[in-house]
Order: sequence, then structure tokens, then C-alpha cells
Amino acid sequence: MTPSTDRNTTLFERAKALIPGGVNSPVRAFRAVGGTPRFIARAQGAYMWDADGQRFIDYIGSWGPMILGHGHPAVLEAVQKAALEGFSFGAPTEREVELAEEIIRHVPSMEMIRLVSSGTEAGMSAIRLARGATGRSKIIKFNGCYHGHADSLLVKAGSGLATFGHATSAGVPPEVVQHTLVLEYNDVAQLEEAFALHGKDVACVIMEPIAGNMNFVRASVPFMRRARELCTQHGALLVIDEVMTGFRVALGSAQSLYAQQIPGFAPDLTVLGKVIGGGMPLAAFGGPRAIMEQLAPLGPVYQAGTLSGNPVATACGLATLREIAKPGFYEQLAARTRALIGGLAGAAQAEGVDFCADSEGGMFGFFLLPALPQNYPEVLTTDGARFNQLFHGLLERGVYIAPALYEAGFVSAAHTAADVEATVAAAREVFKALSK
Ligand SMILES: Cc1ncc(COP(=O)(O)O)c(C=O)c1O
Repeated sequence: MTPSTDRNTTLFERAKALIPGGVNSPVRAFRAVGGTPRFIARAQGAYMWDADGQRFIDYIGSWGPMILGHGHPAVLEAVQKAALEGFSFGAPTEREVELAEEIIRHVPSMEMIRLVSSGTEAGMSAIRLARGATGRSKIIKFNGCYHGHADSLLVKAGSGLATFGHATSAGVPPEVVQHTLVLEYNDVAQLEEAFALHGKDVACVIMEPIAGNMNFVRASVPFMRRARELCTQHGALLVIDEVMTGFRVALGSAQSLYAQQIPGFAPDLTVLGKVIGGGMPLAAFGGPRAIMEQLAPLGPVYQAGTLSGNPVATACGLATLREIAKPGFYEQLAARTRALIGGLAGAAQAEGVDFCADSEGGMFGFFLLPALPQNYPEVLTTDGARFNQLFHGLLERGVYIAPALYEAGFVSAAHTAADVEATVAAAREVFKALSK
């Protein structure tokens, strides 16, 4: 395990006395991999520095938002200007309209959009809207997909298709999850069976198009196509959670990639977060006008937020989206990401370590397995101890990947070919140790 350094340890002790687990979001605590979390002092470009001054090549990118890298000059300038104009007004601003226009321009399945402050809030609101618009209660989600920590989504599968979910968190009453059906990702037959049994009661199916919360597992094209067909056939809404994939895998988000393979494909509702805020608390959900007009103040579905559409956050998001919309941005980002996973695969192969990887745009995942998993139980066949050895080996060598084997990784436009080479060189040393 990576030896903890003095200042990180001192800060962690202070934090643990005041903040549960010493962190404000659980995965940051390193509990899956062991050891002391690094307290980050600052970041620039592709790098972060911890409280002891150690530099890391950052493949977490704040869990996705930092697609331009840290401290991009155009984004900094926009944020500084917005901050001088005022932090929050609780009244509409021109920038919210501009951001809505910019997002919808690239993701045209959304005719209208509502801005909120976190992915959790966006997912939770999209589900309330789906229920309100359909007048139905049941929702279908998939094992291993994460849509934020709203009560009705903290659910694991019941004992069969006829039984609904069990809460995965204390504090969630059984009545709250009794309408959530959890199915296996990429299992077309199970989805068909669920609709045959419950179709008339299903308000929506919610899914990550590329599941980044079980590392990196794509929804197969037949699975996505069938989900779309079944929703349409049964009057349920298809909600695509692009909090992670939105503007991260392509300018049109993951749905544009499925639309290339499934003629006419579009979700009913889209959930966005992360990149659209460029690192500030900002998220959104949107869809066709007829559905979105069900929201307050026009319709009966209530939804609100003191800081929604915050002027500094929208400035950050807008400046980020304008940079990534420049020609060639995604081609270059995708090529760098492919170079990274190709390099890692080569290093693993040279040392005889089982390794497989996949990427799209600036998002990637890898597994210490011989073949890419298709669902969560397959992801969990990874040897956790070996992953932890890899994680700490890389961290010691100044490479910071997610501290859990079921998380995706992110490359930014600031990562250079030299960063990729340094990462692959570090990984080769760790794979050598793993192969012993
Ligand atoms: C796909 C997906 N949906 C929703 C969320 C929740 O977003 P937030 O952490 O901003 O509440 C996440 C967070 O990682 C996510 O990856």
C-alpha cells in the first residue's frame, strides 16, 4: 500500500473528527483500496498536487467534469468575470438561456431543458417528471447503473421479476423502493419479460448508455434498441442518464452514437451533469416540449432550486461547452484516450497480466480480466486485491486513477502524449510486480 505522507495523514485525522469518514462523498475515502486519501491542494492542466506537494497525472478529472483539464484559461476568465458580476440572484439570467441553447444545439432530443445543481437532483427530477407525465409509478433500472442517491434509486434487485427492489441504504423505507424493478444490464430477455409482466404500470426505464459506475460497460445496440421499442410500445419513457457520458464521449453525447446505429433513436428524457458544468455544481434534464411543459410553473410536476442555473456555474459550463465544440476536439481527445488504453494493454500483455479495456471520446475503463464484462456480476469477477495493488502502484508513481475497480477513468484535452507515455511506463512497472 502507498505509504501515507505526513500532511495528508494529519488532514485526514482532522477531517475524520468532523466529517463522517473524513470525506464529503464516500468513494474519496479510499476504503475500497485502503490507505490514506490524498488531500488535493491545487490542480492545473492534467495534474493535481496533494497537500505534501506530490504531483499526480489526474485520470479522475473530478469524476468526469474536467474535460479541458484544470484551469483552462478561457474557463477561468469566464468564471472570474461572472463572479465579479454577482454570485447568485435567485432570478433568471441571460446566461441560463445561452447555456440551454448551447446544450440543445448539440443534443437535439431535448426541446426544453431545466437546469439544476447536481446529477442526483437531475435524475430524481427526471423520474418524478416521468411518473407525473405517464401517471404511473413503476420504474425500471439496471444493476450496476448509478443515477445519484435519490431514495427510490438506492435499490438492489428483488428475488425475481415479480418482486420489486430492496433498499441498498439504511433510511430508505421499503415502501419507497417498492416501485423500483432492478434488472440485469444488457439482458434483453429479462427486459422483455419485465415489460410483459408490468408494462402498463411502468413510468420509465432509466439507464446509463455506457455504464461508468461499473467501470465501463456499454449498453449493447440490441439492448438499447429493444429498450426503446418496449418503452414506446408500452407507453413508458426511456430516460438516458448521460450525467457521465454527456459531452464526454461525443459532442452529441452517447445518444448520438446509438442514433448512428439505430435509425431514429432518441430517448424521451436525458439527464446531464458533470461536463455541462465544467467543474461547477450544475446539471440538467430535458426532453420533448410536451413532457417538459408538465413541470412547474407550467404543469403539475413540482421542481425547484435556490441555486439552479447559478450565474457562476453557468458561466463555467458555457465556456467549457464552447471550447469542446471547436472542430477536431473529440477526434484528438479520443485518439489520446485510445493511445492510453492501447499502451496499458501492451504493457499488461508484455508482463502476461490479464487486461482488457474500452474507451469512447475521453472516457475509458479497464479490467484485469481476459474479456470485457457485459454486466455488473461479470465486473465483480475482477480480483479486487490485484486492482488495489495496481491502484497503489500507480499512485506511488504519480498516476491517480479512481480508487475503486468499478469506476470509469477520464482523459482531458490537457493530457499530452508525454503524460500517456509516463503513465504506461509506470503501469509497466506495476504489471511486472503483479505478474510475479
Ligand atoms: C450516471 C450518473 N448519474 C448520476 C450521478 C449523480 O450525480 P451527482 O454526483 O452530481 O449527484 C452520477 C455521479 O457520478 C453518475 O455517474
